[in-house]
Amino acid sequence: MAYQKVDVKEIPVNPFREIGEHWVLISAKKDGKVNTMTASWGAMGVIWGKNAVTVYIRPQRYTKQFVDGSEYFTVTLFNGYRQELGVLGTKSGRDGDKIGEVGFQIEEVEGQPTFRQGTYVLVCRKMYSDLIKEDRFYDGRIAESVYPGKDFHEMYIGEIVGAYRNV
Ligand SMILES: Cc1cc2nc3c(=O)[nH]c(=O)nc-3n(C[C@H](O)[C@H](O)[C@H](O)COP(=O)(O)O)c2cc1C
Repeated sequence: MAYQKVDVKEIPVNPFREIGEHWVLISAKKDGKVNTMTASWGAMGVIWGKNAVTVYIRPQRYTKQFVDGSEYFTVTLFNGYRQELGVLGTKSGRDGDKIGEVGFQIEEVEGQPTFRQGTYVLVCRKMYSDLIKEDRFYDGRIAESVYPGKDFHEMYIGEIVGAYRNV
């Protein structure tokens, strides 16, 4: 299997299913080191005339340091690997080599990290980030239930600069 460039408009991806049900990995490289985390919240669409992905990362995630320290992040899609994605979404790269532990192999696409086990990868260049704010919720019950520790997500909107299919 190898990643081959495709037109993002041609990829047969349902974002509700891919992100919400299958889960994705958000990955970035900083100072030559790679970290990744599982995400089941996110969006794919169009903004400012660009194809874009939005991801939401809580401040305590180690991956946030990598996304903040890089011009790019990647979103890798999977078919299966539920258990592995569960581990990558429970353990922190801060505490050890969780990528090696689940047996995933890092590959690079356009110099950015993804995994041999993925089906598609979207290479995203950061365009915008912002912190979710408590006083902007129309329904305060969401803020209360999702953020009891006030650890509001940072949202990152990335322009999809490359889409690749693992064939
Ligand atoms: C199914 C699933 C979905 C998740 N979605 C998100 C998410 O969208 N945003 C987030 O900040 N954390 C999310 N997490 C939690 C992180 O993946 C988890 O805290 C991870 O261990 C962080 O690793 P890191 O410290 O190496 O970055 C999710 C976890 C799981 C299992």
